[in-house]
Amino acid sequence: MSTLFSVDAYREQARTRLPAMVYDYYAGGARDEITLHENTRAYDRLALRYHVMRDVDERSTATRVGGHEIDLPILIAPTAFQRLASENGERDTVRAAGESGTIMILSTLATTSVEDVVNAAAGPVWFQLYVYRDREATRDLVKRAEAAGCSALVLTVDAQVWSIRERDERNGFALPEGITMQNLEASGKPTFPKSEGSGLGAYVRKHFDTSLTWADLDWLAGLTDLPVWVKGIVRGDDAKRAADHGAGGVIVSNHGGRQLDTAPATITVLPEVVQALDGTGLETLVDGGIRRGTDILKALALGAQAVCLGRPILWGLAVNGQAGVRQVLDMLRDELEVAMALCGAATVDDVTRDLVMEQSRV
Ligand code: GLV
Repeated sequence: MSTLFSVDAYREQARTRLPAMVYDYYAGGARDEITLHENTRAYDRLALRYHVMRDVDERSTATRVGGHEIDLPILIAPTAFQRLASENGERDTVRAAGESGTIMILSTLATTSVEDVVNAAAGPVWFQLYVYRDREATRDLVKRAEAAGCSALVLTVDAQVWSIRERDERNGFALPEGITMQNLEASGKPTFPKSEGSGLGAYVRKHFDTSLTWADLDWLAGLTDLPVWVKGIVRGDDAKRAADHGAGGVIVSNHGGRQLDTAPATITVLPEVVQALDGTGLETLVDGGIRRGTDILKALALGAQAVCLGRPILWGLAVNGQAGVRQVLDMLRDELEVAMALCGAATVDDVTRDLVMEQSRV
């Protein structure tokens, strides 16, 4: 039994274990980190107007996402370089995801190959894609993800130009000897050298395709039979465009506050996106700033099918590898279940819009 009772306690523990450069990379955001903090604060400005006197004796957090039955409405968001947090990195995460009955989204920038991650998995794995200027390399990633057995792709659309993350610039963020982006070995782009400023920033500037448009979503959707979720949407009109160009679902995200600083907190734009997708049959996920079961409940109430968790998973991973990820997922599932019960919701389908109201800042 862990004695850590909150995501924040895991973060604090992780901070003491990780090299400062790694902690800063995971924890940091773009520029003044306004969006990074707003993502979390915006949840605090929402109140839960609970129902009473409803039978919550039989409770369940199970739900469906993208055709998968999952045990809790939490997916693992794609985060890069997990072997900086634990020796087995992405393998630890995917095993914990399987034990918890949910989906892991694997980053293009993973430090374990997609084949090895799927081999270690006991549940669904989705593959997050960055589009490289080298389209053959991009195509190769898609084909490998398909062949390995991933059941969806997640196209990140908010990062074709990398933001300035001042912590990484200051620390000269680089990968240590022996840790590489294994999915990029085949195309000869598996690492970035230590340089002045952020090595990752330099890598992205060199390799990511800055000319990406909706036509590229058509291209990708035509390249694969897998559903292509579009991640990085903060507007209803863009969500609609994603649907028109063949998206299989939408993830409301501002990249955890790591891209455009002062972008809106994701929970504040979720309802607009959900409304724009009404009638399309597409599901909406949301990430960014989720630190409590009550945050998850608010996201579900505002129309998300489920949430994706990034940093909390990394903190669990850094504290205790596979078991740590499992502990974080268990903790949040328990928090969610209690919050649901106290709102009079025995199941995820009982979580309704009327549970959430805005309250002014205290
Ligand atoms: C990777 O996707 C990052 O945000 O650093």
